[in-house]
Amino acid sequence: MKYNNIIYEAKENIGFLTIDRPTKLNALNGETIDEIRDVLAKLRGDDQVRAIIVTGTGDKAFVAGADITEFEDLGLKDGFDFSRKGQAMNRDLEDVGKPSIAAVNGLALGGGLELALSCTFRILSENAKLGLPELGLGAIPGYGGTQRLARIIGKSRALWTMLTGDMIDAQDALQMGLANMVVTQGKLMTTSIEIAKKIIQKAPLAVRMAMMAVHHGTETDLESGLIFEASLANVLLGTQDMREGIAAFLEKRKPNFSGK
Ligand code: COA
Repeated sequence: MKYNNIIYEAKENIGFLTIDRPTKLNALNGETIDEIRDVLAKLRGDDQVRAIIVTGTGDKAFVAGADITEFEDLGLKDGFDFSRKGQAMNRDLEDVGKPSIAAVNGLALGGGLELALSCTFRILSENAKLGLPELGLGAIPGYGGTQRLARIIGKSRALWTMLTGDMIDAQDALQMGLANMVVTQGKLMTTSIEIAKKIIQKAPLAVRMAMMAVHHGTETDLESGLIFEASLANVLLGTQDMREGIAAFLEKRKPNFSGK
């Protein structure tokens, strides 16, 4: 598939996915979503890529939302499918089996914030502003925002963000746990790469299982989550990487993980 709206490249085990529609503040049109999903489908089977960094072109916007020009002609059935398509993209990202970092280089609004919420981590530049302005358009967030934002910052703050339409600045996002780090615009990429490299040094299957345990285990009751955790911990006992991790510790050397 030829990409018209995104740039994708892989370097040193990191996949860089850049939303590239700067004249539209990187708004997500349907074609962009198809392209992102195509990359994610390929990444799922690509063991060489162990972490993904998602960002937007330019220094003004990460992504300024779903492309509003595509809303105009939507009928009732289309609206449902439209929403499910954006949700599927974000689900693909969350479930791709590798950690992802949203390097938020400016505005992350509507669908842009929803994309960032589906990443494992969010690193923000100081000028970043996050918001869900959909209610002002007569819509609601439809790419998972009502669910993921509430799960990350709590129902009250999530509703505040949606109902007031107020944007959250980088420092406030950090304070409420919406952002993991805030750095200067100039350091956004280097810091994101640094964090990705730190994660890459861990055993890939353990990283994947930890993400599954947290994402899925916390969506159920505690005892079921604990049984899920124990099952995943047990699966890891059968991996070469766990044997390697323990051997490396005992031999006082760095582990060499193979992802098996
Ligand atoms: N969908 C489609 N186009 C968008 C867009 C979106 N979500 N966000 C920005 N754009 C386009 C603008 O229409 C404009 O295109 P044009 O030059 O062809 O007219 C271009 O990007 C630049 O945006 P502009 O509005 O001129 O920049 P600004 O600095 O004055 O304002 C925003 C920036 C983000 C405040 C403003 O663009 C905005 O409110 N965007 C919509 C945000 C939104 O509601 N997102 C949620 C959608 S569900």
